[in-house]
Amino acid sequence: MYSRGESERVLGEALEGHREESVVATKGFFQMDDDDPSSGGLSRKAIEQELDASLDRLGMDTVDLYQIHRWDYDTPVEETLRALDDAVRREKVRYIGASSMWTHQFADALHASDRLGLERFQTMQNHYNLLYREEEREMLPYCQQEDVGVIPWSPLARGYLTRPHEEYDATTRSETDDYAREHPYFEGGGREINERVEELADEYGVTMAQVGLA
Ligand SMILES: NC(=O)c1ccc[n+]([C@@H]2O[C@H](COP(=O)([O-])OP(=O)(O)OC[C@H]3O[C@@H](n4cnc5c(N)ncnc54)[C@H](OP(=O)(O)O)[C@@H]3O)[C@@H](O)[C@H]2O)c1
Repeated sequence: MYSRGESERVLGEALEGHREESVVATKGFFQMDDDDPSSGGLSRKAIEQELDASLDRLGMDTVDLYQIHRWDYDTPVEETLRALDDAVRREKVRYIGASSMWTHQFADALHASDRLGLERFQTMQNHYNLLYREEEREMLPYCQQEDVGVIPWSPLARGYLTRPHEEYDATTRSETDDYAREHPYFEGGGREINERVEELADEYGVTMAQVGLA
């Protein structure tokens, strides 16, 4: 859904001649066409149609990791899992992954795939950084228990952890990134955490980004 598929086109072009040695991941779920409700969600139709469209844009026959971007409250998870399992069998996808959901939903999905003998989600792409640590409560221990790889998103809080808070708006990205304002990075203890990261970076002689990521 990033720039309505444009990022997949750009990536596909950049990877020309380097596809074999690259591990390529993409996602499905968000509606790609405002006039076509079945261009989003995780029904069999949406997955089959949108995965083919992603592969076309990437210029690939097979993508290494195909992730579901969100939980679909309108589709039984068994339908989604069967469609994803078929995509693996048809060699359009090598591994499947999930993103941003509650642990109880992820547990339901893994139990359903085990019960039905279908491909399991191998990865969880979740929001995780020094300012958003909810995942430490249940999701990360659960992923460890289930041997699921974790791919945190916005590990630097969209750049907020990479410079002093009063300079956050210094770049084009931060100035125009509405999502940074939707997440409560600047509220509660956010500023204090930002100041502590700066202090530690000075103490160790490294960048704030290095401390934030570590
Ligand atoms: N699954 C989901 O729902 C979901 C949601 C959001 C994002 N994502 C994924 O997560 C990935 C990363 O998200 P993000 O861009 O928000 O990550 P991030 O690592 O939190 O932020 C990256 C930003 O940090 C700033 N920065 C400053 N110094 C840096 C340094 N040394 N190294 C790297 N960045 C530095 C840059 O912004 P400035 O130019 O402002 O300095 C850069 O754009 C994306 O590929 C996206 O696909 C997934």
